[in-house]
Amino acid sequence: MASLLEFIKEKHRTTPLWIKALAPVLLLGGLAVFAVTGAVTAFVITAWLGQPIPVLGFDQTVKQPIAFPHTIHAGTGLFPSTGLPGQFIDGLEMDCTFCHRTVTSQANAGVPPVALCSYCHKVIGPEENPELAKLRKAAGLTEEDPSPINWKRVHRLPDHVRFVHEPHIRYLTQHPSEIRNAAPGVNQLSEALPSQVCSTCHGDVASMLEVKQVEALKMGQCVDCHRENEAPTDCTVCHH
Ligand code: HEC
Ligand code: HEC
Ligand code: HEC
Ligand code: HEC
Ligand code: HEC
Repeated sequence: MASLLEFIKEKHRTTPLWIKALAPVLLLGGLAVFAVTGAVTAFVITAWLGQPIPVLGFDQTVKQPIAFPHTIHAGTGLFPSTGLPGQFIDGLEMDCTFCHRTVTSQANAGVPPVALCSYCHKVIGPEENPELAKLRKAAGLTEEDPSPINWKRVHRLPDHVRFVHEPHIRYLTQHPSEIRNAAPGVNQLSEALPSQVCSTCHGDVASMLEVKQVEALKMGQCVDCHRENEAPTDCTVCHH
């Protein structure tokens, strides 16, 4: 032990200063190259095939400015309140297209403006619910000035990809057998309602307290489905 200490001390004295200065730089450089290579490899693999990497925060729920529960608005059954812990609220079974109004006609599904929320919430829901208090403040139903709610995106494809909701909703309502993650009975229908097709790419949103991405929605998945359903697979269909 003593001789080892001696050895280190001796080395410390005799090693030139520039090597001492360079050693941490070289070590960090090596680690950085290793980390970048690893990240790039993982990125390429997941881009083509797999689920998004949970570590990087893809698979997680997003903290929204107001804890808006899809459960209570779109679901069936009793759900825990996000604003008043311990309380349960009956699901309203609202149609997805009531709020996501452009999903059947445009590229974007659209997230509702606060005016649509205040249509109900200027009267509905207890005053002591802190999440509703935030909503009423944003909607200008209090003394304070109204402000838009900056909902955070949960699903987002890279900028070089083009996605349009309209043809998918149309196709899937006419071909219910292609709907995935469907509620029991939906696949046996000859025609589905627009709201019944969303599960194919978004899972069962009506039962999610916070929306999260459940399908990878990677290129392989898009192209496979296009091939199976005789939809176009040219690169320019999905890429600018
Ligand atoms: C058709 C009417 C209606 C519309 C439109 C509506 N809500 Fe609600 N919302 C309700 C009802 C009913 C409840 C349950 C209230 C209760 O019993 O406490 C509720 C509850 C809530 C709660 C409290 C939930 C909890 O877990 O405590 C929040 C937050 C909320 N709504 C936000 C919104 C937002 C944001 C919008 C607009 C995107 C919206 N609501 C649109 C009817 C509506
Ligand atoms: C009362 C209005 C309302 C209803 C009804 C509703 N939504 Fe939403 N939805 C919202 C709001 C507000 C957001 C943004 C906040 C969030 O992500 O929770 C949202 C977000 C989403 C997102 C995530 C968007 C993103 O950023 O990637 C999906 C997917 C979605 N809704 C699907 C559905 C489906 C499917 C249904 C029907 C089962 C439905 N919604 C019913 C209001 C609604
Ligand atoms: C074929 C797959 C697919 C189906 C079916 C689908 N979506 Fe989407 N949705 C996506 C993809 C992919 C994105 C991300 C788009 C982007 O980043 O450009 C998205 C984004 C969204 C968003 C957030 C951005 C926006 O467009 O406003 C909402 C809200 C949404 N979808 C709601 C719905 C609803 C409601 C339905 C059913 C009526 C539905 N989606 C059906 C694939 C799908
Ligand atoms: C459920 C199967 C399915 C999935 C999953 C799917 N698509 Fe499609 N897509 C179709 C079908 C079928 C059509 C053709 C609909 C029609 O017009 O009849 C289509 C059409 C399109 C179009 C429009 C083509 C045109 O006519 O301009 C685009 C763009 C597109 N899809 C992109 C995507 C992207 C990007 C993804 C992955 C995020 C995706 N799709 C996932 C089935 C699917
Ligand atoms: C049906 C839609 C669709 C078609 C057709 C399509 N792509 Fe893609 N592509 C996507 C989507 C969605 C992504 C984004 C995947 C992700 O989230 O990483 C993507 C990503 C990519 C990427 C980037 C990969 C990465 O690491 O992010 C390249 C390169 C690419 N596509 C090339 C092509 C080429 C070349 C073709 C024609 C042979 C093609 N794509 C056809 C949907 C499509």
